[in-house]
Amino acid sequence: MADLDRLKARAAEIAERETKILLDRTPGSKALHERALKSLPAGVASNFQAGDPYPVYLKRGSGSNVWDVDGTEYTDFHGGFGVNVVGHAHPKIVEAIRKVADQGIHFAVTTETTVALAEEICSRFQLEQMRFVNSGTEATMDAIRVARAATGRDKIIKMEGSYHGHHDSVLFSVVPEADVLGLRHGVEHDKAWYTTEPTSKGVPKALWETVIVTPFNDATAVEEAFQDNPGEIAAVILEPVMMNIGLVVPKPGYLQALRDACEKHGAVLIYDEVKCGGTIAYGGTTERYGVRPHLAAYAKAVGGGATIGAFGGEARYMEWVTKGAAQQGTFNGNPLSAAAGLAALTQVLTKDAYDHLGKLGTLLAEGCKRAMDDNDIPGHTMDLGAKGCVSYRSEPLTNYRDFLETEPEFFYASFSWMINRGLFMTPGDEEQWTISVQHSEDDVQKYIDAFQGFCQELAG
Ligand SMILES: Cc1ncc(COP(=O)(O)O)c(C=O)c1O
Repeated sequence: MADLDRLKARAAEIAERETKILLDRTPGSKALHERALKSLPAGVASNFQAGDPYPVYLKRGSGSNVWDVDGTEYTDFHGGFGVNVVGHAHPKIVEAIRKVADQGIHFAVTTETTVALAEEICSRFQLEQMRFVNSGTEATMDAIRVARAATGRDKIIKMEGSYHGHHDSVLFSVVPEADVLGLRHGVEHDKAWYTTEPTSKGVPKALWETVIVTPFNDATAVEEAFQDNPGEIAAVILEPVMMNIGLVVPKPGYLQALRDACEKHGAVLIYDEVKCGGTIAYGGTTERYGVRPHLAAYAKAVGGGATIGAFGGEARYMEWVTKGAAQQGTFNGNPLSAAAGLAALTQVLTKDAYDHLGKLGTLLAEGCKRAMDDNDIPGHTMDLGAKGCVSYRSEPLTNYRDFLETEPEFFYASFSWMINRGLFMTPGDEEQWTISVQHSEDDVQKYIDAFQGFCQELAG
């Protein structure tokens, strides 16, 4: 394996050189950023859209391509953070939205399209009942509220390094820096769970007490947390495949063990399928791994690009929304999102579509792995349907602490390298590619060729 320090030095050189090229060729983004800074903190609509020193601002998208405000064309692998599995301006989605635009985009009254989408989501993801919201954040927030209402308990267990949106209950230990990573706590030390670290200022201190943090892929830690907090834990919430640190898949038996622990201790197992739901299989995690949660949260891809969120599961829990657990929202199930979502799920993201996504994803992952191997770059690839990643660590990751052993310098270098070669990418190392039904083998080959060039350059 090539010497790591030498590779890191090469990565820093590449990042510096390519960032300069990027800045030189994006004057339109620079100008829009300067304008946006006056009305939007950091010049963006969400902290996740910020870039250093400014992000590349987009103007339009079509098929598998996007164009920035300077008119440069890219093949899109960013995918709107896992939303655009249908690609851009898909004719079926455009047609559905056009129809709604003519007929009324909002009533705050449930429409037939909304009911049809609810039926589709329930049947596809094997839910007895569901409710709509408008984002992934709201979906996990409401699922947790329902779990707390149903159990009469306050505490939840979440996994270290996982993101479930930006509501107060879950903004703990999302990306703890290595130097604040807690030791294990619990009745007996060096068993059970980790220190809970707040991720945001402004989260009430009182909530720290309600969140227990365990490592992903460690069912024993969850069982021990249950034993040390008898009758206090309402729910275990997790992304069944962790998708904000590359891709970390559940070990065989892990999801079933969590379900069994929840059943045994009277708690609710909540899958956060905001990213997994519409991407890893036609029927999401339940289809892919065969273990059903009690409740699950959805968003992103299930709206076909329109704003959406949903949560659902067993009727014995969902009925709590009519028994005192607040669940409402002016835009919930609005006709625009419902029409786009229904067209996406019934006409575009069909079973065949997942065969296409799986084939392309594996082609891409294999090509990237070959490029790393050919050039002695330490790393592995992972792909599940529309989602996939390169992780700069030879062995697959099992949890967040493994992620801290990857090499972020390689990402900073690869991001600017790839975007300068016409591949639109997410800026960070947390999430990487999302491919769409409109991507082709040629699109994937373009990515592989650029990545091969990057690995050669890195290896020197
Ligand atoms: C796993 C997961 N859950 C929840 C959310 C929050 O979704 P939203 O940004 O729609 O609020 C995200 C967003 O990236 C996510 O990745």
